[in-house]
Amino acid sequence: MMLEVVNVCKRYTGDKLTVDNVSFSVDKGTIYGLLGPNGAGKTTLMQMIATLLKPTSGDIYIGPYKAPKDTLQIHKMIGFLTTEVKLDPISTPNKLYNFFAELYEIPKQYIKDKRQQDFDRFGITPFADKRIVDLSTGMKQKVSIAISLIHEPPLIIFDEPTNGLDILTSKLVTDYLLELKAQGRTIILSTHIFSLAESLCDEIGILVDGKLVLSGSAAELTEYTNSKNFEEAFFKIYSEHHKE
Ligand SMILES: Nc1ncnc2c1ncn2[C@@H]1O[C@H](COP(=O)(O)OP(=O)(O)OP(=O)(O)O)[C@@H](O)[C@H]1O
Ligand SMILES: [Mg+2]
Repeated sequence: MMLEVVNVCKRYTGDKLTVDNVSFSVDKGTIYGLLGPNGAGKTTLMQMIATLLKPTSGDIYIGPYKAPKDTLQIHKMIGFLTTEVKLDPISTPNKLYNFFAELYEIPKQYIKDKRQQDFDRFGITPFADKRIVDLSTGMKQKVSIAISLIHEPPLIIFDEPTNGLDILTSKLVTDYLLELKAQGRTIILSTHIFSLAESLCDEIGILVDGKLVLSGSAAELTEYTNSKNFEEAFFKIYSEHHKE
């Protein structure tokens, strides 16, 4: 087991639980998708898994470690990507990459080759010395992905990895995630795009109003709800569990 989330709750203010008693676990080498509408609590849950936010109650175990006690070890084990992370606008892909490579203590002699390889994969090379502020949304996202995985973490937590990307760039990213899975890495991603969840995830957890209401593979959820396809299954599950 790579990740275990046990009865996790998050309350920001008042009585409302933004994340309401969520439990699930993810095996090594699999892709787990959190699927839910805007405001369902996906980002909140992922920030807690990434130890950036403390649960109000409940426990999170990552590999042999427990959050928040082992935050330092957990940071080395995870790569976190969120739509809210902003790259320094006046820096460049090259400078940022080198900065994070040193931060994660990648041996100096490897950095140059690794950077070349990562930049070539994502088509960043021609933009390597341009300022972040002058890059397109997709290029910034690809730089963020390369940087978030610089330390080759076994657990990858991607909050809406294809947010704002065109279909070509999305495919580049999803193909890469499948490649990482084939290497035995574990991936947790959030999305509100059910086709993405269906094509990529071994298991999908449906999050409605902070509750994990159902989980399984797209095929299982489709069958369980007697639906024609996963899209119909998602709507059925959502309307059954969403309270006005
Ligand atoms: N720091 C905060 N303080 C108070 N409320 C917050 C905070 N962050 C998020 N919320 C609220 O918690 C709820 C869940 O937000 P969250 O960002 O986790 O949802 P999400 O599923 O990621 O949505 P989206 O698909 O729009 O990204 C929302 O109602 C949001 O307004
Ligand atoms: Mg979000």
